[in-house]
Amino acid sequence: MNGENIADGAGITPKLADKLLAAGADVVTLGNHTYRREGIGDYLARSETVIRPANAGTWTPGHGLAVVQARNGVAVAVVNLLGSLFLDVPRSPWEIVDELVDDARSRAPVVVVDFHAEATSEKIALARWLDGRVTAVIGTHTHVQTNDARILPGGTAAITDAGMTGPHDSVIGVKAELAIRRMRTRLPVRFEPAEGGVRIEGVLVECSDDGRARAIEPLRVVL
Ligand SMILES: [Fe+2]
Repeated sequence: MNGENIADGAGITPKLADKLLAAGADVVTLGNHTYRREGIGDYLARSETVIRPANAGTWTPGHGLAVVQARNGVAVAVVNLLGSLFLDVPRSPWEIVDELVDDARSRAPVVVVDFHAEATSEKIALARWLDGRVTAVIGTHTHVQTNDARILPGGTAAITDAGMTGPHDSVIGVKAELAIRRMRTRLPVRFEPAEGGVRIEGVLVECSDDGRARAIEPLRVVL
């Protein structure tokens, strides 16, 4: 689960991270809002299953790779990376992705990449680059589910964006009138999370024990 904005739409707190794990998430990935909340740095430094983007910076606390066990005992590695287009990243994901994926593959046959990025082109390019080396490249960050879930020729499942679990009667989770006011006036407007149209969005990937993807299906549950 990507949990970067579970704290009222911006960041995550240690308490909320624990709540996601208690609710059944095996690994929580994050993104560009990782360090918005107090106390999360120390928490990430200690946590092995709540991870931040691997290219978040050499001195930022936390890990970019987690390894857990699936219910049938197969090891699953999860990797989190930030995109470099339209986002402020300390290191290009391209500079570190190969080493990171090699590390993940040495520990687990199933490798899931959460690529937290803005641009569709960059997300498609990374999925293509990793095709055949990882089980899935799942895009996050835009909050808008894309209609391109597919298995690439090398056996990697990919979707440009898994979408948003949250209020869809909004501008990517924010009360629409506040987001529009900020865009129109360019004045500072305090954002508040919207409430209506709550949906669970995500993606279901089926794979064999050797990590090769067999199917990918976007999920959308309207509550
Ligand atoms: Fe984000």
